[in-house]
Amino acid sequence: SAQKDYKLWLQYHKIQNAAIASEYKSNLQGIVSLGSSATSKISLTELETGISDMLGNKPEVKSVINGENNLIFGAQTNLNSDLQKIFQSDFTQINNEGFIIKSVLLKNKKQIVITGKNDVAVLYGVYSFLRLMQTNKSIKSINIVDAPKTNIRILNHWDNLDRTVERGYAGFSLWNWQKLPDFIDQRYIDYARANASIGINGTVLTNVNANALILTPQYLEKVTALANVFRPYGIKVYLTARFSAPIEIGGLKTADPKDTEVANWWKEKAKEIYKSIPDFGGFLVKANSEGQPGPQNYGRDHVDGANMLADAVAPFGGVIMWRAFVYSEHDANDRAKQAYAEFQPYDGKFRDNVIVQVKNGAIDFQPREPFHPLFGAMPKTPLMMEFQITQEYLGFSTHLVFLPKLFQEVLESETYQKGKGSTIAKVIDGSLNPHKLTGIAGVSNIGNDLNWTGHPFAQANWYGFGRLAWNPYLDAEIIADEWLRATFSNDENFIKPVKDMMLTSREAVVNYMTPLGLHHIMDTGHHYGPGPWVSNLSRPEWNPTYYHKADKNGIGFDRSKTGTNATAQYAAEGEKIFDNLETCPEKDLLWFHHVSWDYKLKSGQTLWNGMALKYQEGVNQVKEMQNTWSKTKKYVDSERYKEVEMLLAIQYKEAKWWRDACLLYFQQYSGKELPVGVEKST
Ligand code: GCU
Repeated sequence: SAQKDYKLWLQYHKIQNAAIASEYKSNLQGIVSLGSSATSKISLTELETGISDMLGNKPEVKSVINGENNLIFGAQTNLNSDLQKIFQSDFTQINNEGFIIKSVLLKNKKQIVITGKNDVAVLYGVYSFLRLMQTNKSIKSINIVDAPKTNIRILNHWDNLDRTVERGYAGFSLWNWQKLPDFIDQRYIDYARANASIGINGTVLTNVNANALILTPQYLEKVTALANVFRPYGIKVYLTARFSAPIEIGGLKTADPKDTEVANWWKEKAKEIYKSIPDFGGFLVKANSEGQPGPQNYGRDHVDGANMLADAVAPFGGVIMWRAFVYSEHDANDRAKQAYAEFQPYDGKFRDNVIVQVKNGAIDFQPREPFHPLFGAMPKTPLMMEFQITQEYLGFSTHLVFLPKLFQEVLESETYQKGKGSTIAKVIDGSLNPHKLTGIAGVSNIGNDLNWTGHPFAQANWYGFGRLAWNPYLDAEIIADEWLRATFSNDENFIKPVKDMMLTSREAVVNYMTPLGLHHIMDTGHHYGPGPWVSNLSRPEWNPTYYHKADKNGIGFDRSKTGTNATAQYAAEGEKIFDNLETCPEKDLLWFHHVSWDYKLKSGQTLWNGMALKYQEGVNQVKEMQNTWSKTKKYVDSERYKEVEMLLAIQYKEAKWWRDACLLYFQQYSGKELPVGVEKST
């Protein structure tokens, strides 16, 4: 039912396996909370609800440790001296947000203890423990020491103050500005809970393109109310800062970052915010990008802008997340090169509390992009990853696409910046070049739809983002497994095929939309559906024809030495691989090269035939997804079953639409017949 959908991965289904259930019962005779903070209370409620829903009876809540087989939880400072001793060395292994879950002998009695350096860390441990139960893992003898590998694990809401959501496909914004601050929607609490359960510790409430109104006292009062709701869940609030705010709401004549009045205005604004939100996270800034104001309007640069804001929030421990998503119509030769060209020279020039936020690829959240060349190329500057969870270019909330596959592929990419093994994950978590600040941002796919994300399976992308932000080395398969068990069922007959379906879904969308390195051929503006023919937009780099460059000779964007030389922005070893037609991975072929229609692919097929077969393969994969889903009826409630069934039917129809539209369009250039195996358009 809709209620099930609403509960996300926190369903706490009754345990079906009798042996597991009895093991859990015997190990969970009582619960002991060692703390009394708001966060401790959340932990206790969560354990009580989770355990009683899963086991069918409530464990006794004890005020002191007595008897054996209790679940004891509390922060380090609340542990008794015996427990302090037991965990002494484990505590040296974890940071402030890490946790320990252990089976211990306390005065010769067996107990399970969840602890961490503070109550929020303990809460993370509590959710991790409940996840073990949700996925039917043994708790007989637990020994887990875990800590997040990044500091800032944050959602970016592209939510406007009128509650529309830019690139949002799951309804309107959760934030009801009109009723805030006095009306606290239960949804804010449920949102915080869901995020805490996967370790997300920050949220940017407003769109990167938002106006400055959010920084006025009337709105800051509302922001404060949200911050108060989120605080016990360990979630900090951040806001977008429109660079021209000093003019728009401050009455100044300029927003020049070198102007002392401007700098003072921001300092005062920061003081005002921190007065009511002492743990305010800081600002996210989109400056001089797609028409947004920025320091360049005053002949200044990104460093001037970011550092001025950084100085304003520094006294309060705030952070500036300065986005590197910039491109301009004045240098339209290759949009993919612009962010690197503009930012790389500033390496080492930013203040300590600035982190540069870089999209995973150099264009814009495509079904597949090679990794952004900035990663690893600014060793003296902390860079944070920006992924897009909302599926702007991947079928909105209509198509089933399991994004952790995409995220993992990016995080595992080799930058070669410090030789082999210099993966993006190591850039992001600060292990390649040590940084105090590290982080991963995800552009949220959440709205006020009953099921939060529009497509029931899009919940897995929110979930998976959080898990990967905590641990960028996690395998997408493990994420899919956990999510399916927690959301639907532990039945292996369900898990195996549906997990396979999720894991192929990302490759399927690449195949039916943009195989072999094609990109940005979606219809413009909305980015839904094919539009490779569009060529009449005012800015050249908004036109799909700019990206595929199909002609009689072939197709693809030559970014090699013979073309725009974008490959030179990668470390030498990576550059060599991408630059050479022979070594360039076929999945990125048309991203880096313009190749003839007769070019021989590794399969022996010509490029034209291979491309056509990829489009067909994508269609076939969606058909197979439908087939898989049709066998899950008995494991899924009828409402979600039906929803996914309808959505997959649309996805199948649209996969064919993509295939037919693209092949028909490209065929006028290739002048070739479709190969055997490709269905004729219907
Ligand atoms: C894309 C997207 C915009 C968004 C922009 C950004 O271009 O289409 O809606 O504002 O990215 O990330 O700033």
